[in-house]
Amino acid sequence: MTEAAGSLPRRVWLKQASAKLKKQSLPDPVWEASLLLARCLGVSRLRLLANQEEALQGAERQRADDWLERYLCGEPLAYLEGEAHFYGRPFVVSPAVLVPRADSECLIEMVLAELDLPEKSWVCDLGTGSGCLLLTLLAERAHWRGIGVDYSRPALEVARSNARRHHLEARVDWLQCSWLSGLELPAGPGLVVANPPYVVLGETMGHGVAEFEPDLALFVPEQEPLQAYRIILQSCAQTEAAGGLSAEARLLFEIGAGRSAELIALAKTHGFRLLKRASDLGEVERALLFARVEQA
Ligand SMILES: C[S@@+](CC[C@H](N)C(=O)[O-])C[C@H]1O[C@@H](n2cnc3c(N)ncnc32)[C@H](O)[C@@H]1O
Repeated sequence: MTEAAGSLPRRVWLKQASAKLKKQSLPDPVWEASLLLARCLGVSRLRLLANQEEALQGAERQRADDWLERYLCGEPLAYLEGEAHFYGRPFVVSPAVLVPRADSECLIEMVLAELDLPEKSWVCDLGTGSGCLLLTLLAERAHWRGIGVDYSRPALEVARSNARRHHLEARVDWLQCSWLSGLELPAGPGLVVANPPYVVLGETMGHGVAEFEPDLALFVPEQEPLQAYRIILQSCAQTEAAGGLSAEARLLFEIGAGRSAELIALAKTHGFRLLKRASDLGEVERALLFARVEQA
């Protein structure tokens, strides 16, 4: 917390904040300063910019200074606000969960546009984090039921609060376990979706990501970047009777930049064939959809 500061016109605060952000070589410091202050005050940027002569004072000024210091250290704005938007909906976030990424929205788009599952299907989200993938799919498909799995109990608490926020709690079961170790997949048509960790130690990441987002959500051992994918594929490849993926169900992965060829090859060795692939807005291939290879 910074020391109590006096009153200051918003315009002056914005100028000083932009100068500090500029020193961090952020691409658009003026825009970021105004976004930060608008979110801190709970007003739109337009409203903020239209009222720049209003004074920031007392607790408001202190909170703005505090947010700026934390933001300069790389703390994501979503953690400062306690909220992030995903596919048009607000989600509670805390440092226990990965901040939902716009890149992951292409998984949702693929499911909604390409997957022809019956009205009453199931979806199982492995490594659910904030629950953004699972809860978005349930909100978009009113008759689907969901299972959200995470190894992290605090992450599951965040996901639960998001389910309550979107009135979806009656349609989800939550499970704390490692991938599919504590669970047999339901029979029949459905979807397993997973955005597991895929960053190896030492890989370059955005400002503040490694420092503030949970290690469990990001990192895998350097020797095996696709470790989590391999474990999930092994479980899904079990026979249906043993809780593996049914022939009518699908498996959708998010994958890191440049790793899809490796994942497609790995999936093939476990008896899965690629059905569809999709890229994010930055044209990075992110979403790979698989089905079991039919047994002769
Ligand atoms: C990259 S984050 C994805 C979070 C969320 N699905 C999203 O797309 O924003 C990976 C998630 O996997 C969880 N996780 C890591 N290891 C796990 C394991 N062995 N079993 C289950 N979940 C795990 C982490 O806690 C984290 O929430």
